[in-house]
Amino acid sequence: MDHETSTGHVTRKTVLRAALAAGMAAPAVLMGVPALARTLTAGETAPALTPECDDGDDPTPPQTEGPYFKPNSPLRSSLLEAGTTGVRLTVSGYVFGLACRPISGVLLDFWQADVNGAYDNTGFRFRGHQFTDAAGAFKLTTIVPGLYPGRTRHLHVKVQAPGRPVLTTQLYFPGEPRNNTDTIFDPRLLMTVRDAGGAREAAFDFVLNVPQDPGPTPTPTPTPTGVPGGTWAAGTGYRAGDSVTYGGLGYVCLQAHTAQAGWEPPNVPALWRTA
Ligand SMILES: [Fe+2]
Repeated sequence: MDHETSTGHVTRKTVLRAALAAGMAAPAVLMGVPALARTLTAGETAPALTPECDDGDDPTPPQTEGPYFKPNSPLRSSLLEAGTTGVRLTVSGYVFGLACRPISGVLLDFWQADVNGAYDNTGFRFRGHQFTDAAGAFKLTTIVPGLYPGRTRHLHVKVQAPGRPVLTTQLYFPGEPRNNTDTIFDPRLLMTVRDAGGAREAAFDFVLNVPQDPGPTPTPTPTPTGVPGGTWAAGTGYRAGDSVTYGGLGYVCLQAHTAQAGWEPPNVPALWRTA
């Protein structure tokens, strides 16, 4: 799996992608992974290439719609048709809200140029919409779009969470010479792209300006062991400020999460500080 940005930096979001792909239980994903990812990136400087999805103020930037959007595109995740020419391309990713929680049922409406750089303005070739699945994931199957005058290589997309405003933006390919001269180009919208046997596999995660709770509020359900204030225990919901002991030392919880094996206080400084 390729979960690195074009700079090779493993972002918090890519770690979340890995967790989602690995089928982690949803509550754990929603509540704890950002903190875990922060731990993995400790000491690194976040690149500006993609939204980090960590502090609630960096949704995917909008871009101009351009002149070629058409409503009422067909519902389909593959834009390939019989006889379609061009280098095959898949674009996969997740759609997150401001708290880095994936959003299901998000509409993604893609449109792009064909291999020759032309848009179909009479029909719906290389146009299609789909919805994120229960895990907030999407996957587009298409071709690498051709170039046309004045622009670098790009995909167009509109992204809309249920009942929320539409994000209109574009996605870009690393290493394109015209990225340096296209005034619309934004490096924050670069996909991760790799070669895959003559085809291309791209990844991009959207962050929508959708407020989210950081996670379910843990319900205090005192039990003899593992409750806040006692000995750290996997499966326990901790809140910021909770104190535990682990390995004979005391720790204070820095942010709400449900404890998991591997997230013991010494291992995850983003979640626990020494008391
Ligand atoms: Fe375009």
